[in-house]
Amino acid sequence: MDQTPTIGVIGGTGFYEFLDDGEPTVVETPFGAPSGPVTVGTVSGRRVAFLPRHGPRHEHPPHAIPYRANLWALASLGVRQVLAPCAVGGLRDVRPGDVVVPDQLVDRTQGRVQTYVETGASHVPFADPYCSRLAGSVVAADPSVRRGGTMVVIEGPRFSTRAESQSYAAAGWTLVNMTGHPEAVLARELLLCYAPIALVTDLDAGASEGEGVGQEEVFRLFRANLERLTGLLAATIARLPGEPSGCACATWADGIELTYQVPRP
Ligand code: ADE
Repeated sequence: MDQTPTIGVIGGTGFYEFLDDGEPTVVETPFGAPSGPVTVGTVSGRRVAFLPRHGPRHEHPPHAIPYRANLWALASLGVRQVLAPCAVGGLRDVRPGDVVVPDQLVDRTQGRVQTYVETGASHVPFADPYCSRLAGSVVAADPSVRRGGTMVVIEGPRFSTRAESQSYAAAGWTLVNMTGHPEAVLARELLLCYAPIALVTDLDAGASEGEGVGQEEVFRLFRANLERLTGLLAATIARLPGEPSGCACATWADGIELTYQVPRP
């Protein structure tokens, strides 16, 4: 079997280990070290690279995650498709415990570097920020997963005020999170397929009747759903092709001379 991990998983809050048989590897990138060592192992018969987004001991808060190094490290190992579990707050039409694969993103972060482009014209198409083929595989693996909805990504690390949260819900947005951007656009620039798998850990301040959301609640709910998420990932991975096909993620730059490098093993 080819040992190249073509599938990557970026684990979210409370999700620091995924592979039993893998060896953690330190990967260096032109953008510094990723959040932690990358573990490569086997899931559902496929070679998979796992990286904990916040680091193995949750060292990196959302605004200080080395996003560019993370996506670069995975791509340099051979990853072509990225599944990205994350904790989200619910704004409307969802309950804690729901798993959602959103189809749209709103960037409300501030000042995060969101590109590998440093010179020239390399404008990535981003109208549909996620790979719909990958999203379809997640939903096909578990029909209770909801597909669609808009995730607004805030800068954090603080949670939203009630008024901010209500304004997001009034805009029609479904989920709020702190890490979904720039991860998705960096994946797109590196020609990777990318789909978030959002676990609703709380109702955000505008949607909740209580005191608003707190960190403990988020961690507790994520921990309680870890087994379910790992099962969903394994079932999804079993459905994925080794190389992406049937989507345009790897080909959007065909005919364009990119002004940055796309890493390959
Ligand atoms: N991650 C989990 N819950 C969240 C919330 N309510 N706001 C922002 N990010 C979150």
